[in-house]
Amino acid sequence: MFKAEKLISIDDLDKEDILELYETTKKIRSINDQPNKKISLLKEFTVANLFFEESTRTRISFELAEKRLSAESISFSAGSSSVKKGETLIDTVRNLIRMKIDMIVIRHSQSGSAHFISSQTGLPVINAGDGTNEHPTQALLDLFTLYDNGLNDKDINIALLGDVLHSRVAGSAIKLWQKLGIRFEIFSPKTVQRNFAAKKTNMSRNLKDFNILYNLRIQKERQNVELIPGEQEYHSFFGIKENNPTKDQYIMHPGPINRGLELDSKSADSPNSLILNQVSMGVSLRMAVLYLLAKKKGSVEPL
Ligand code: CP
Repeated sequence: MFKAEKLISIDDLDKEDILELYETTKKIRSINDQPNKKISLLKEFTVANLFFEESTRTRISFELAEKRLSAESISFSAGSSSVKKGETLIDTVRNLIRMKIDMIVIRHSQSGSAHFISSQTGLPVINAGDGTNEHPTQALLDLFTLYDNGLNDKDINIALLGDVLHSRVAGSAIKLWQKLGIRFEIFSPKTVQRNFAAKKTNMSRNLKDFNILYNLRIQKERQNVELIPGEQEYHSFFGIKENNPTKDQYIMHPGPINRGLELDSKSADSPNSLILNQVSMGVSLRMAVLYLLAKKKGSVEPL
């Protein structure tokens, strides 16, 4: 029985919740492969997608997920809203609540914003990325992508490469992997590491020991000072290049990619790359999250 009432952090899910979420995603994934992808499970729900920061994958996949579940869905962009006139986050949300929304998906540049909105509203809130803190649906869909490729927890050994300090994807992924006992090591310049209780390795370690090369985006917009010596230097030490992956290794990246920095185009577009599979799985996984949270709140039919 799914217990979570919100998804702000991987901490909101215990192992049972994660397994139920993945079972639900599997069922929904098969619906998403049919010509008629629409189901009416959330027809009585209104979901507000509040994007105070740019997004392509997360925003569009949530919007699609809501439409496929037949929810009413509204999308808010800070840039074309009264936020531009100085309206605060909480005032914005209070106004939307008066329009009878049932659930909130929020992306914001401030770490803690999703928790704040959850604590102030009591509505089910899904964190679609808050500052450098967490991006739980990304971490969950990434792992589902590996399961979908036939791997199980014991098979997986991840090299996590890049800007861990500023990465909310890393924030969630590391918690998820630790919860499930999945093996991983971090490879990043010392200037963009953070104090996760996880093994950190330098690049002298052979990447061939790992079957997943998970590249994080270099988050230029969150670096106030230059934390890497130069893009070419970074690419040569930490970037994935055509000759790095063996045929049994998968390349992953949450997107958007900085081609030529975290990985070169040949690697990004190679048969080893799961980057676009991750995007496909995002819709099914987010449908499952919306469905399970809605079921906790109201009368929703069984899947
Ligand atoms: N992975 C991810 O969060 O991408 P977007 O910023 O495009 O949503």
